[in-house]
Amino acid sequence: MANDILKFLREKEYVSGEVLAQKLSISRVAVWKQIQKLKDIGYRIISDQNLGYCLVSRPDLLLPQEIQIGLSTNYIGKEIYYFPKLKSTNIIAKEKALHRAEGIDEGTLIIAERQSAGKGRLGREWFSPVGGIWLSIILYPQLSPSYISRITLMTAVAAVKAIKICTQIESQIKWPNDILINEKKVCGIMTEMSAELDIINWVVVGIGINVNIDHRDFPEDIQENTISLKEASDKEVLRVKLVKTFLQGFEKYYKKLKRKEFPSILREWKLYSHTLGKKIRVDIGERIVTGEAIDINESGALILKKEDGELIEIISGTII
Ligand code: BTN
Repeated sequence: MANDILKFLREKEYVSGEVLAQKLSISRVAVWKQIQKLKDIGYRIISDQNLGYCLVSRPDLLLPQEIQIGLSTNYIGKEIYYFPKLKSTNIIAKEKALHRAEGIDEGTLIIAERQSAGKGRLGREWFSPVGGIWLSIILYPQLSPSYISRITLMTAVAAVKAIKICTQIESQIKWPNDILINEKKVCGIMTEMSAELDIINWVVVGIGINVNIDHRDFPEDIQENTISLKEASDKEVLRVKLVKTFLQGFEKYYKKLKRKEFPSILREWKLYSHTLGKKIRVDIGERIVTGEAIDINESGALILKKEDGELIEIISGTII
């Protein structure tokens, strides 16, 4: 009901309580109660005895009703679960993905203002205070499990493009999934999956973007290598717009991926690459390999040329 009232308030400068009550078939007292609810969330609504209610400003929150206005996707973000605070959006998304049969559809989004136990890759913690974007998307791709690295790479491309559109900042991708600005990390992506031999049950794509966060607030041990969009652009960034832009790009690339058009996504990935052409050291779990990053192949693996000229294919690893 509060969302319906918001819809009318967005359309006109002033809307009278009487008109709202009529349109929604509720009493004027019920309208007043819904207006109080909206005010409690942070919407500024003024009322004039003669003219009625007027929406003055919206809260800077990643509320579903704000993200969904004008969101031009077909299924990504059509269902949004919003939390002011939770442990980790990936944890909730994984729990929900198990309930596909009960109506948790592809594209369902879990989003939070802050996470108390945000998860990074390799079991690391992910610092997630108020001011960032912490979200997870549930997918059920009918693709082979080997597509998982391609999903991570396409997410990175969607993130770089959304950052560019909303802030004009050019960021770069460190293989496979770190987004950097001036060599410092601004965004991380963590893709988790449940699969059987050759089918995927579900995929959860988690993405964290440091948006309006002050450097001093980052934990000391990562301060030097971390940056936020606000710091890079010297101004506050509209988080709702960034989420929308990201979701729209994400759906576009995901559709391409499902049409088996990964090569065109890969071409874009390479344009934003921070890794290709560099001499790097990669931790591949059982050992560390050194060489020049010369390419990413059609399955998303990194091709490394070792000092002795041997080419090796790395499907998963961390550049150190
Ligand atoms: C990394 O670079 O290590 C990946 C970081 C991924 C962080 C995001 S924030 C939203 C989602 N929920 C989590 O707990 N983690 C991911």
